[in-house]
Amino acid sequence: MSDHHDPSDNSTGHEWDGIRELKNPAPTWWTWGFYLGLIFVTCYYIIYPSSPFNNGFQKVINGITGQEVLVDGHTKGIMHLIFDNEFEGVKYYAGAKWTQAEIDALKAKGYNELTIKAGDLKFQDGWTYVNETRQEIAEIESLRRDAMAQLDSMSVAQILADDDMKHFALGRARVLFGDNCAACHGSGGAGVVSAGFAFPNLSDDDWLYGGTPDALLETITEGREGAMPAKGGNDELTDADVANLAGFVSALGSGEAKLNDDGELTAGAGKFGAVNAVFQENCAACHYANAKGGVLNDDANGAVNLTDAIYRFGGDMATLKETIGLGRQAKMPAFGEKLDPTSIKILAVKVHQLGGGQ
Ligand code: HEC
Ligand code: HEC
Repeated sequence: MSDHHDPSDNSTGHEWDGIRELKNPAPTWWTWGFYLGLIFVTCYYIIYPSSPFNNGFQKVINGITGQEVLVDGHTKGIMHLIFDNEFEGVKYYAGAKWTQAEIDALKAKGYNELTIKAGDLKFQDGWTYVNETRQEIAEIESLRRDAMAQLDSMSVAQILADDDMKHFALGRARVLFGDNCAACHGSGGAGVVSAGFAFPNLSDDDWLYGGTPDALLETITEGREGAMPAKGGNDELTDADVANLAGFVSALGSGEAKLNDDGELTAGAGKFGAVNAVFQENCAACHYANAKGGVLNDDANGAVNLTDAIYRFGGDMATLKETIGLGRQAKMPAFGEKLDPTSIKILAVKVHQLGGGQ
């Protein structure tokens, strides 16, 4: 360290191994930042709940463990003078208090060690994020309640016509559909196909029982049971008949064969004349003479349209032969007991939106 000190060299005169301590002022931007920071902290301190001074310990129940815990109080800040945490007459900053009934209910749940008394503060007084959140939740709950009440009073068609209500219903439908329907119909409603048993695709506009609001409500409330009898119920059909019918159904799908409403071939008459006679005799009772199935003939009998090339169980020859030769059974469970009418309405809106509802 040197004793030498020249006032003009801008140093404090301290020097260690050639490193000198200078008296340069801090940069202006830094000084401003420092003072602005101080002002900000002071304002924050006054406005928001901050210092952990005990202004009344409060007793709180830990929602997970059920343990009663003490939470430190803190200064209240002046936030509650600026924002009124009040909603529908409930002042959140005014600090709700435990009632005897609530304490009894907690004890009934097994929280028997409670030392809280009726009249103890439930939440920290003053403005806090917790109180702010409670108020926001109460506001959302109230909006939801109003919208649900409105849904109750509307028909499926009215909901579909009202964009706001439709979106609200679809939002509620996501969980309902996931919990009750997705296991069979897939989360996107596209159906789940497993060997020999197929759940129908709800996201196309091909319907077994109809896509009108009324048909959908009936399907979901009462369930449906589709039964395609083996060989259309006629044991006398031979394997050759079954194979021919499979070829015919495939031709109806591809358009190679076409039927009018009277069951006459308007295309493929030469090739399919004989098998059409077998079809009209054994299959038309359910699939109708034009093979368009129940729904398109105003009959919700579950017999599918065989002319649209949409196959639930599969459209290849082997599967068609199996379907016709062995029959198919499928059951859509009834939800009328399990779900309330509003939930069923919401699901009908959802299914209608998924596919080309009618
Ligand atoms: C256990 C499986 C299963 C569950 C769960 C299920 N479904 Fe189905 N659903 C089926 C089957 C199988 C069919 C076809 C019935 C038939 O072939 O007759 C069907 C048919 C339908 C149809 C008729 C489709 C048409 O083309 O007409 C609708 C609509 C439908 N289900 C909606 C729902 C909704 C909404 C839910 C949830 C609340 C649901 N399903 C839950 C198995 C199920
Ligand atoms: C008693 C009424 C009834 C008769 C008769 C009937 N079907 Fe069906 N058919 C149905 C029903 C209902 C379904 C849907 C099965 C289900 O939901 O499980 C069906 C389904 C089918 C399917 C499946 C289509 C697909 O999407 O995978 C084919 C193919 C079919 N029938 C062909 C025939 C043929 C060919 C005959 C005549 C031999 C016939 N059906 C007679 C009621 C009938």
